[in-house]
Amino acid sequence: MDQPFVGEPFPATPDTYVIPTYWPIPQVGVIPMNAFVIAAAEPVLVDTGVGVLSDDFIAALSSVISLDQLRWIWLSHDDRDHTGSLHRLLELAPRARVATPFFAIGRMLPEQPFPLDRLRLVNAGDVLNVGDRNLTAWRPPLFDSPSTAGFRDDSSGVLFTSDCFGGPLPTAEQAVVHSIAELPETTVARGQLAWATVDTPWVAMVDRHRFAASLERIRRIAPVAVLSSHLPPAGHQHVDRLLATLREAPDAPPVPGTTQTELDAMLAGFRPAEPDLNPSVPNPAEAQKELTP
Ligand SMILES: [Fe+2]
Ligand SMILES: [Fe+2]
Repeated sequence: MDQPFVGEPFPATPDTYVIPTYWPIPQVGVIPMNAFVIAAAEPVLVDTGVGVLSDDFIAALSSVISLDQLRWIWLSHDDRDHTGSLHRLLELAPRARVATPFFAIGRMLPEQPFPLDRLRLVNAGDVLNVGDRNLTAWRPPLFDSPSTAGFRDDSSGVLFTSDCFGGPLPTAEQAVVHSIAELPETTVARGQLAWATVDTPWVAMVDRHRFAASLERIRRIAPVAVLSSHLPPAGHQHVDRLLATLREAPDAPPVPGTTQTELDAMLAGFRPAEPDLNPSVPNPAEAQKELTP
């Protein structure tokens, strides 16, 4: 896989569907970028994919739910891999309101206006009723935007964690699985730690005890599944090990940033051989001779 694509939607739990996008990262692997649909009485879309694949995302979403039935778009934060089809969906799904913290919209306003009458603010601890269930907003232990709001579906017990628990996977075959049960534990752990040190480098500065306590709170609420934006779904039997891995994140060696040398090598690998547009630079004296009758 060398191009990103929107995958086939699949159920993660009986009433929650994943709409996956797979994004290749040169020399690293592939990272899933998941949106979700909760088949609640008032159906909920969680995040809106990436903009460059908006047509494909909307087609995949429409295969799961008719857009005019959509009542809520829960925006987990304002990063570009979560907001790609937001404004199109405001038009295509006229009954939908956007549930998110104000800061998520505030950070997007310099780029594009947002209809504030379509906004339902949720902050950590707030409860959004979606007809047959409550969604309780929550800030995950690791986040890369101050506007982040995950939530727990109080009916199904599924925990939506935004970018927390994400991780790139070495191959496309691994990224497209429907459960982390299909992956080697060491592969998931390596991806989680790499992601944690890159996406949330501040984790190296946290108070270890307080950070561990924030993870312990997740273990105590015993989620039925953990749905991260950037990892295949994880059932309850895998939650303890996801937490154990993140406990190591503050002391994990940081993944170094890509260097210019690596970028040059990458670009050279992408670039087709350039045609020689000027195969023989004429010797001016020779050229002059040829022009001389
Ligand atoms: Fe993010
Ligand atoms: Fe993300």
